[in-house]
Amino acid sequence: MIPEFIHIHEVVDVVIATLDARDPYTYEHSSRVALFSELISQDMKLPQDMHQRVHIAAHLHDIGKIGVSDSILNKAGKLTKAEMIEIQSHSRIGYNILNRLPTFRVVAKIVLHHHERMDGNGYPERLSGEAIPLESRIIAVADAFDAMTSNRSYRKGISVEDAAAEIARHAGEQFDPKVVRHFNRVYSEFPQHICCNAANGRHYAYVGHEELMHSRIVQNGVT
Ligand SMILES: [Fe+2]
Repeated sequence: MIPEFIHIHEVVDVVIATLDARDPYTYEHSSRVALFSELISQDMKLPQDMHQRVHIAAHLHDIGKIGVSDSILNKAGKLTKAEMIEIQSHSRIGYNILNRLPTFRVVAKIVLHHHERMDGNGYPERLSGEAIPLESRIIAVADAFDAMTSNRSYRKGISVEDAAAEIARHAGEQFDPKVVRHFNRVYSEFPQHICCNAANGRHYAYVGHEELMHSRIVQNGVT
């Protein structure tokens, strides 16, 4: 095994555990997006280094949501323009966090561009077509699929088939048609036990509240 590779995964683990403690829904969502992105990239037969980058970047794609307020992240109604700008800042915040680690520079770029669209109407840089990193185009499809099929407190997720049809409808303008072709071949194999099961209210962060809120172990009711 290559020591650097292990080291990177240890760093990734710390960062996603931080995300889990702050925002369990985004942590769960990102874990599914990582798995779905990996299945798509496997079907695309991408080189091993690209395959690893897709996986790591997918786990971290929404890390910037740490910098967005809960009231906006969980808002049920329509977002105001200012709220929309704040929520959209998550891709830039994520980039700024990850770009500090030289090893993550490429991953940071993938995260920065995961909300770009093929037609250039995405954000933050309005890149279009192949100017968008391929890894970001893969994550965009997996991300949309999971967002549509997940249950949230304010709406029920749609079926796997309806979500796939919606993605196919937007191939070319929003999503890369080549990625969508591979997605279509594999989405039915996405594990159902983790699909469509988000925000079930039973998830607990790895770091329990007790450990977060108290610096000492509770003994005989005294902290
Ligand atoms: Fe995002």
